[in-house]
Amino acid sequence: MKIIILGAKGQLGREFEEYLKEKAEIHSFSHSELDVLNQELVIKKFQEIKPDVVINCSAYTKVDKAEEDKEECIRVNAEGAKNVSYASYKVGAKVIYFSTDYVFDGEKGSSYTELDSPNPLSTYGRSKLLGEIYTKDHNPNFLILRISWLYGIYGRNFVKTIINKAKKEKELRIVNDQIGSPTYTLDVVKQTWKLIQMDKVGLYHSANQGETTWYEFTKRIIEKLNLNVKIYPIKTEEYPVLAQRPKYSALDNYLLKLGGINMMGDWESALSEFLTSYSSLLIKGGTENE
Ligand SMILES: NC(=O)c1ccc[n+]([C@@H]2O[C@H](COP(=O)([O-])OP(=O)(O)OC[C@H]3O[C@@H](n4cnc5c(N)ncnc54)[C@H](OP(=O)(O)O)[C@@H]3O)[C@@H](O)[C@H]2O)c1
Repeated sequence: MKIIILGAKGQLGREFEEYLKEKAEIHSFSHSELDVLNQELVIKKFQEIKPDVVINCSAYTKVDKAEEDKEECIRVNAEGAKNVSYASYKVGAKVIYFSTDYVFDGEKGSSYTELDSPNPLSTYGRSKLLGEIYTKDHNPNFLILRISWLYGIYGRNFVKTIINKAKKEKELRIVNDQIGSPTYTLDVVKQTWKLIQMDKVGLYHSANQGETTWYEFTKRIIEKLNLNVKIYPIKTEEYPVLAQRPKYSALDNYLLKLGGINMMGDWESALSEFLTSYSSLLIKGGTENE
């Protein structure tokens, strides 16, 4: 099977590259190697390679900066998604797009399934919802996976930020009134590979299961690594940022579970697995920003 990975230097893109390198013929492109906004070049590359599957990990992911940079965010996450989906359709490939829990407004009060209506609060959330729509409108052979609070070995993420801050600071103040489902990149990659192998089409929630707050999540990281730092819970209002986040955006993998194909375990086990791999990488001398 021939697979193209776009946005291949991001945290999810690199996880796909690593996991799939011995399972398929991989053609991966970083932002500088292939800009998804360059429609002509995207089509040309796809026609040269003739992939079976295109995994689109490219995205504008700076949620707060997006409020000052609305056009660029929408261009990358929506128009970019359209270019990739259309080019995949032209060469007969399946297209895979990753979306977010931030398409929801957080008012439901219980975990969101694929049957709930999105109502994004931020530019980032709106751009990702548009990206979903453009992806499915331009290629009937699409897979959209909504994921949330993503972390993994590669790139920057919340877990690594906490570990680094805990080494430098004596106390941390962490928001305790936003609830979501922290999700490990490796689990997303394994679930996606299963869906590719089954040739599934459609929209799926694909987050680690269960829910927590950023504060409780941090507490678990600190406890597991035995880090010497005090943490204090704060309210969203005490940590002002540009983009509004949903107060409650835990995802229920309803359709994966209904189909008996949910591989996403609970967030606590996923975090433990990640921390074990990450700690051994650090001991072996890997850099923290790999
Ligand atoms: N991170 C999260 O918590 C989270 C949560 C829910 C959903 N998601 C979704 O999951 C997917 C993967 O996220 P991630 O955390 O891996 O993001 P990431 O680490 O920010 O990676 C995104 C990659 O896309 C590249 N990119 C940006 N603009 C591009 C363009 N015009 N053409 C080609 N590549 C471009 C970036 O390159 P440069 O850095 O060089 O610009 C970067 O390497 C995204 O769709 C994201 O929206 C993420």
